[in-house]
Amino acid sequence: MPSRTFNGALKLVITLFALVNVISAVAIESRGHPSGYDHTEKQCKKTKVAILGAGTTGITAAQALSNQSISDFLIVEYKDEIGGRVAHTTFGKKDDGTPYVVELGANWVQGLGSKGGPENPIWTMAKKYKLNNTFSDYDSILTYNQHGEKDFDPLWDEFDDAYSRLEQDAGYILTDNLQDRTVRSGLSLAEWKPRLKDDMMAAYAVEWWEWDWETSYTPDESGLVFGITGFNATFYQYSDENNYVWDQRGFNYFIKRESETYLKPNDPRLLLSTIVTNITYSDTGVTVYTDDGGCISADYAICTFSVGVLQHEVVTFEPKLPQWKKDSIEMFQMGTYTKIFLQFNTTFWDEKTQFFLYADPYTRGWYPLWQSLSVPGFLPGSNILFVTVVEEQSYTAERQTDEETKEEVMEVLRKMFPNITVPEPIEFMYPRWSNEPWAFGSYSNWPPATTLEMHQNLRANVDRLYFAGEATSASYFGFLHGAWFEGKDVGERIAGMIGGTCESEAGGCGEDLHYDELHGTTELGEYDLANGWDVSSFVTYGFDG
Ligand SMILES: Cc1cc2nc3c(=O)[nH]c(=O)nc-3n(C[C@H](O)[C@H](O)[C@H](O)COP(=O)(O)OP(=O)(O)OC[C@H]3O[C@@H](n4cnc5c(N)ncnc54)[C@H](O)[C@@H]3O)c2cc1C
Ligand SMILES: *[C@@H]1O[C@H](CO)[C@@H](O)[C@H](O)[C@H]1NC(C)=O
Ligand SMILES: *[C@@H]1O[C@H](CO)[C@@H](O)[C@H](O)[C@H]1NC(C)=O
Ligand SMILES: *[C@@H]1O[C@H](CO)[C@@H](O)[C@H](O)[C@H]1NC(C)=O
Ligand SMILES: *[C@@H]1O[C@H](CO)[C@@H](O)[C@H](O)[C@H]1NC(C)=O
Ligand SMILES: *[C@@H]1O[C@H](CO)[C@@H](O)[C@H](O)[C@H]1NC(C)=O
Ligand SMILES: *[C@@H]1O[C@H](CO)[C@@H](O)[C@H](O)[C@H]1NC(C)=O
Repeated sequence: MPSRTFNGALKLVITLFALVNVISAVAIESRGHPSGYDHTEKQCKKTKVAILGAGTTGITAAQALSNQSISDFLIVEYKDEIGGRVAHTTFGKKDDGTPYVVELGANWVQGLGSKGGPENPIWTMAKKYKLNNTFSDYDSILTYNQHGEKDFDPLWDEFDDAYSRLEQDAGYILTDNLQDRTVRSGLSLAEWKPRLKDDMMAAYAVEWWEWDWETSYTPDESGLVFGITGFNATFYQYSDENNYVWDQRGFNYFIKRESETYLKPNDPRLLLSTIVTNITYSDTGVTVYTDDGGCISADYAICTFSVGVLQHEVVTFEPKLPQWKKDSIEMFQMGTYTKIFLQFNTTFWDEKTQFFLYADPYTRGWYPLWQSLSVPGFLPGSNILFVTVVEEQSYTAERQTDEETKEEVMEVLRKMFPNITVPEPIEFMYPRWSNEPWAFGSYSNWPPATTLEMHQNLRANVDRLYFAGEATSASYFGFLHGAWFEGKDVGERIAGMIGGTCESEAGGCGEDLHYDELHGTTELGEYDLANGWDVSSFVTYGFDG
């Protein structure tokens, strides 16, 4: 192991107090029972567990309860179907006039598993339901600038070298309990400095592909330690493969089928098209109010709403959430990832290549990543391309009209293929994740200087109100498998309390740990189940020191 000059230099433990809002918290008295409701709790539907949201987390939590013989639950869902952010739509036309199905949200199983090693549970289900999927070959890529095709070598190798140093540095920061930093400063220290390069914009495009594409945030806005632990836990524990699901039943077929292991057709325990507006909670129960004037009185509730939904304050909590919970909700980030779909009357690009990366001369992240579905193993002959933007470019595109965005997109394509007469697309479509009232974004990311304790506060219950979702996964935040593990954990946790026995496989039973006072860094010993760290050993999966 290399010697470390930093060793022991930062012994200072910074304790963060929730400084700001002490005064206002004292000033606002609890209003007691909400006055705006004209029914009493007696008229509410009664249940043991109210599961708020029927995405991967909610459907898995209900399955975990069912597995422990708890069938008295209600699942409340905003949309008219289950699946949450695993959602598809029809797009374009085949020769016979019928449409294709494309995924608007989650698209890949990320990290599959290796022989003898652990398997990603989403991969297990993809195989169980024979979802059509294909390995995304990241070497199948052509690169472009505003003058057409352009080789980006040697930037790929330079980035890879820097990334190796970056992940090692993250390992030292973690094990020595040092102060975290941004991925940007980590990259600079690892000698990756796009601004010093002759081909700065190509370097930024390579960096976007390696970082922003996965996290939907720039390196400047991402925390180093948990950015790397997140990557390691998924891609070094399972495998480095990303398999793209193009199944025409839709990716969420697996969630729907899993729900059928415990839900009958038209099961009254699933309340679709029902919007939760207000939640009152205490240490004896939770009452959930819905937009149709109904309410549910439950012993426990599991809120699986995205960080975006929680940050938008579209659901009110009574009493107000404690400051430690509010702080954590505002600390974490909800990224946006937008896929813009185009169908043409011909495949005018290379028919064997999966990816096309564009470096705009002026703006980093400007319609950078083009992916072909008109390629063997996907939807050959479909003439479908989609371009992905994230974060600021997503917000801009999502504010624009289809026509405005189409014009920008076509201008880029015509720069990429200067010698081809690029036809107008015959179909054009994209979702607007940042404005979806049931998601307000795509998936979460950890900002710089975030600790496991801070994250545990996002995860922890407040009285009988529990929180779970993609974002509450310490090891796999952002990913579908993170949502699955958190649903399983919270279901088992609550089953343990109801049944009086703890049969939890992964997590624990009873209430979650939370912190009223936070430390500025995360000590090695804190990487444990109580803090939501469920990778048996990150030392095995990545850290080699
Ligand atoms: C564009 C995009 C690309 C992605 N790509 C991938 C990928 O390739 N691989 C991967 O592993 N992950 C990917 N993800 C992330 C993945 O989709 C999520 O991690 C996962 O689906 C989250 O599941 P969840 O149950 O935690 O949340 P959700 O799926 O959001 O479930 C929460 C549910 O709560 C409901 N809800 C919200 N508000 C209310 C309310 N007020 N009342 C009632 N119900 C409400 C919602 O409708 C939703 O169904 C992607 C996500 C997006 C958006
Ligand atoms: C219920 O929530 C809505 C917003 O979702 C809010 O306007 C309303 O004031 C809340 N009602 C009560 C009684 O808190
Ligand atoms: C419930 O049990 C089934 C059958 O053993 C298993 O396949 C599934 O993964 C379990 N679900 C959870 C969430 O633990
Ligand atoms: C476009 O055609 C010109 C003239 O034939 C050629 O010099 C140039 O290399 C071509 N550009 C691309 C990107 O193929
Ligand atoms: C899955 O792929 C096979 C082989 O390409 C195809 O015949 C089948 O229709 C596909 N099924 C779905 C549901 O996409
Ligand atoms: C595609 O459409 C363009 C007009 O946008 C037309 O010129 C061209 O011939 C069409 N190609 C095919 C293969 O139909
Ligand atoms: C991630 O994995 C790499 C490669 O094994 C390792 O060097 C590094 O220490 C790990 N980092 C963290 C934070 O786990």
